[in-house]
Amino acid sequence: MRKNVIAGNWKMNNDLNASIRLISELKKELSDKNPNVKIIICPPFTSLETASALIKDSIIELGAQNMYSEESGAFTGEISPNMLVSVGCKYVILGHSERRTIFNEPNQLINKKIKAAVKNNLAPIFCVGETLSERENGITFKVVEQQITEGLEGLSETELQNLIIAYEPVWAIGTGRNATPEQAQEVHKFIRELISKLYSSSFAANITIQYGGSVKPENSIELMSQPDIDGALVGGACLKADSFIKIVESI
Ligand code: 13P
Repeated sequence: MRKNVIAGNWKMNNDLNASIRLISELKKELSDKNPNVKIIICPPFTSLETASALIKDSIIELGAQNMYSEESGAFTGEISPNMLVSVGCKYVILGHSERRTIFNEPNQLINKKIKAAVKNNLAPIFCVGETLSERENGITFKVVEQQITEGLEGLSETELQNLIIAYEPVWAIGTGRNATPEQAQEVHKFIRELISKLYSSSFAANITIQYGGSVKPENSIELMSQPDIDGALVGGACLKADSFIKIVESI
């Protein structure tokens, strides 16, 4: 059975001291009283090593927000998959819409990054989602299908055993305007059917598909109760311990 996964994408927030404070608060409240939920935090690179030490012996797991697709070399400012593994990361967010739009990452680069992640035993949290104009033009499914087929090209079911997909409609990110549970469910169902066509129905049935975009305690119960929504990728609301914990508890 697939597991619900709540992941906090801290984005470019929290220096080292603020990271230590937030993790201490989370650790106090998050125990194994929620065995059905996997909890992941994705702090900035500069806090990863410390975060890894702090979450030892807790149920919180560690992810990074990005990485480069090469193992090493002259790529100034980039971080390799193995570097993330060496500081205790088990997950990495790839293809986030902020990477796609602000840093011009195309599907082909995201595909290379996913390949590099699985080669290094990092589980990709692979983000997809349409912009507002794409939704208004009625091409949401087409856009998401292209992101998924190009992003996963050349990858086998075995290689993708730990893949998590996050559906994040761009118009819902950081805007306070979440997709309605029906809008999100419709795309999640589409993604699961697409994965079934590209791979197999058993693989599709077991894959975790998170929703992301203005998830908060006020809307998480309704969103999480949809049949094809298996957790959340949380931005703004993960920066305060109490709201992140409430979202975890809504599962
Ligand atoms: P918000 O929850 O702030 O809308 O951000 C969502 C997101 O981008 C998570 O990756």
